[in-house]
Amino acid sequence: MRVLVTAGPTRERIDTVRYISNRSSGRMGYALASVAAGWGHDVTLISGSVSLEAVPGTRMIYVETAAEMLGEVLGAVTDADVVVMCAAVSDYRPVTEFPGKLKKTDRRLILELERTEDILGRLGRHERRYSLVGFAAETENVLDNARAKLKSKNLDWIVANNVGIPGRGFDSEENAVTMISRKGEMHEFGLQSKSSLAVKILSTVFAGLGDGDR
Ligand code: C5P
Repeated sequence: MRVLVTAGPTRERIDTVRYISNRSSGRMGYALASVAAGWGHDVTLISGSVSLEAVPGTRMIYVETAAEMLGEVLGAVTDADVVVMCAAVSDYRPVTEFPGKLKKTDRRLILELERTEDILGRLGRHERRYSLVGFAAETENVLDNARAKLKSKNLDWIVANNVGIPGRGFDSEENAVTMISRKGEMHEFGLQSKSSLAVKILSTVFAGLGDGDR
C-alpha cells in the first residue's frame, strides 16, 4: 500500500525571524509513519518543523508553511491508497510577511491574518480512490465536532482527541482517541503511547479497506 502521512505544525512567517505556529510535536504522525513503514508499506511523510529524527524507511518531505504543505500533498496524493492528515496546519497566516526583522515601536501593532487553505477539506472534495483520514483536535464537544468535521470534509475516518486535558494530545507522549467512520462505526482507544495508538488507528483503517469502504 502507498501511505501518505502529514505531521507536525506549520509555521506562518510574520517576518524573517518570527512566525505563528502551534504546540504540535509531530509525534502522532511520526508514529503512524513508522508503524506503516514497519509493516512494509510505501510511506511518504510530509512534515512541518519538529525536533524528531527522520523515520527510517520512509520518504521524508520537510515543509514550513501551510501553502508548502498543500503543494507537497497535492504532488504526493495521486497514487496513494491511504492518506492520514495528522498535521496541525495553521488555520491563519499573516497577510504580508515583513521583509527583514520588524522593528518594535511604542505603538500597538496589529497583525492582519488570512485563512490558509484547508488541505484536508480540499482532498475531501476531490474524486479519489484512497481512504482519507483526518484528525480533530478539540477542547469541547469533542465527538460532535469530530462528526461534523467527518461530514463536512467528506472523510472516511476521523480521529478525535481532546487536547484540553493536560498530559494528552498536543506536545505529549500519550493520547486517547475516538475513531468514527463515515458509516458511523466507533472505536475508542484509551490513554496509551502514540506508537501503540498508531498500530490501532492504522489496523482499523486497513481493516475498513477490506470492507469495500474504499
Ligand atoms: O478543521 P480542523 O483544522 O480542526 O481539521 C483538522 C484536520 O484537518 C486535521 O486532519 C488536519 O491535518 C487537517 N487540516 C488541513 N489543513 C488545514 C487545517 C486542517 O489539512 N488548513
